[in-house]
Amino acid sequence: MNISQSIGIFDSGFGGLTVFKSIAQKLPQYNYIYLGDNSRAPYGDRSFETVYRYTLECVEWLFGQGCPLVILACNTASAKALRSIQQKVLPFKYPDRRVLGVIRPTAEVVGNYSNSRTIGVMGTRGTVKSESYLIEVAKFFPEIKVLQQSCPLWVPLIENNEHIHEGADYFLKKYLGQLLAKDDAIDCILLACTHYPLLIPKLRALLPEKVALLGQGEIVADSLVDYLERHPEMKDRLARDREMRFFTSGDTSVFDQQASIFFGAEVASQHIELCV
Ligand code: DGL
Repeated sequence: MNISQSIGIFDSGFGGLTVFKSIAQKLPQYNYIYLGDNSRAPYGDRSFETVYRYTLECVEWLFGQGCPLVILACNTASAKALRSIQQKVLPFKYPDRRVLGVIRPTAEVVGNYSNSRTIGVMGTRGTVKSESYLIEVAKFFPEIKVLQQSCPLWVPLIENNEHIHEGADYFLKKYLGQLLAKDDAIDCILLACTHYPLLIPKLRALLPEKVALLGQGEIVADSLVDYLERHPEMKDRLARDREMRFFTSGDTSVFDQQASIFFGAEVASQHIELCV
């Protein structure tokens, strides 16, 4: 099998599959390698240094598989590692490779979904603490007020498939209530963690109709389509055999079972050992 010249997609665990699903629908012609660092997920509460180290190791592994382009389908890794990888690693070690994240493409469009110009951003502690959304949204929509809410228990609930049970509702209501209490004018909530789209049915039922709920899959997929149009030199390097391969640093049977829920199709993964 020709695995060279695939688009690499990385997440700390399963969340990136919600983005990959949209990308594979929009750009089915390419080859893809998905890597979930499940054995070290969640990343949300880890330090900048640790998230950087883990993310870089995974990106370099994907480069080793021949990927010329890697998408960090993870807000936490995008917030804490992307800039350093782009500025301190790529130019010196991999000048012909590219790594893209999910925060900038989301910040570019999020303002289009709010009439009140007041949005809520829900993410991991790491994403919220980095203030990346405050900084990036201000670049494109300086008039927009951004309120943030960290939701530290949502990723563990989702990674363990506990979010579907009633007991999880307490934590959904808790963080949602904390966010909405910050400003009555919030009319758009951005799910700034690639795991959270699995909560959409429950969250939607808890929210007033006037509040839009925004996931990132479509946004990131559209932005990748646009990127490849603007970078024909990258587009021409990508193989087009419609192959998808899945790798996890965790247990493959657990991954395959959970991944199909996030990806919406059967998945057969292979294990890799990460050692940092
Ligand atoms: N899916 C990831 C994100 O978008 C993070 C989950 C985690 O590892 O905490 O932030």
